[in-house]
Amino acid sequence: MRMNAVNMDELRAGISAFAARGLRLDMSRGKPDAAQLDLSLPMLEMKDGFLSEDGADTRNYGDPLGIPEARRLFGQLLGAPASQVIVGGNSSINLIHDALTRAIINGPLEGDLPWSRVDGVKILCPVPGYDWHFSICATLGLKAVPVTTREDGPDMDEVESLARDPAVKGMICVPMYGNPSGITYSDAVVERLAGMKTAAPDFRIIWDNAYCVHHLYPDEARRDHLKNMYDACAAAGHENRVLMFTSTSKITFAGGGVSAMAASPENIARQAALMTYQLVCYDKVNQLRHARFLPDMAAVEAHMAKHAAIIRPKFEYVLGVMERELSGIATWSRPRGGYFICFRAPKGCAKRIVALCAEAGVTLTPAGSPFPGGYDPDDSVIRIAPTYPPMEELKQVMELFPMAVKLAAAEKARRENG
Ligand SMILES: Cc1ncc(COP(=O)(O)O)c(C=O)c1O
Repeated sequence: MRMNAVNMDELRAGISAFAARGLRLDMSRGKPDAAQLDLSLPMLEMKDGFLSEDGADTRNYGDPLGIPEARRLFGQLLGAPASQVIVGGNSSINLIHDALTRAIINGPLEGDLPWSRVDGVKILCPVPGYDWHFSICATLGLKAVPVTTREDGPDMDEVESLARDPAVKGMICVPMYGNPSGITYSDAVVERLAGMKTAAPDFRIIWDNAYCVHHLYPDEARRDHLKNMYDACAAAGHENRVLMFTSTSKITFAGGGVSAMAASPENIARQAALMTYQLVCYDKVNQLRHARFLPDMAAVEAHMAKHAAIIRPKFEYVLGVMERELSGIATWSRPRGGYFICFRAPKGCAKRIVALCAEAGVTLTPAGSPFPGGYDPDDSVIRIAPTYPPMEELKQVMELFPMAVKLAAAEKARRENG
């Protein structure tokens, strides 16, 4: 890209003028905004008492795997029978962390060697991916191995080749409207993941389907569709391969919702057995609130359409500014759902862009965070999270962001061209 010195001065002046406004804006995390949270306020009224449909008083101990109506709801969200669902507490990340911890301490199934007794256990992580996944791996001593993400999901040749290593015990991924890629895995990718040969017989795919109903466009034709991974694994004779997770964090209340895991009967029985003395039961009052508020998929769809109406204009605004200001300089995803735009700056510019924005009062997700160890080999990817700031703030951020990108790109061009 060519950018003359005058333009660079103008950009610097523009950024300084923005900084002089003294704003403090935060775009770093994919959180719902307050208007989205308000959509679920009616859920908090418990007008019809506290009995679940099996007659249990949800205020009391019992139903450690979840009340029946909540298991049914999450079975529908994840695509598994209710009997193969464990409903958890307020965080799917907590369930993922626990499931991995059990694999490490006890082994995925009875008779499997605990992963703690295997040297150098590795977990495949499609990148760009979710920083929390990488940090869980790091905390638990699992080596996160980055795998390239293509338009239709992880590079399956790479995955299949890596899975020939017996120390590769699994993969952790966001298969729909990926964080931050925005990508949904194609049917072909789902089938290859389900059917591929793995050297580790206890290979597990942590299928973090956090954005399973988070379409930006309610009409069928503009949505992504994800093939049922459990069915694909069962059809391929690998029923135990996948553990599927989701939560209502981006449906009702973030951090105040309900999470769930679904998997094969054997996997669920194993998790349930190992949970026995971990807790008596999760918060069933919250499960009941959720199941009444979202009794079936039609209710979920109607509710998610309201979310989409709030956040779609934000995505479209950000994408519109990028289109106008940054075409030819950078590239970015145009997601049809989820919470993120995956921005790809010219190589070597991401850190500088994030720093320029920070100096001017705008916090973005740290460059590098969508990669294990925070290391983006190209220093290119920036995760843009448009949902949380109110539209007025977002407009301000989008005054600054293109200037920061153009300045970083111009500085790079000057370095390279002398
Ligand atoms: C892919 C993914 N998984 C999980 C979570 C967190 O979910 P929970 O609140 O259920 O722990 C997020 C939140 O941003 C996410 O993006």
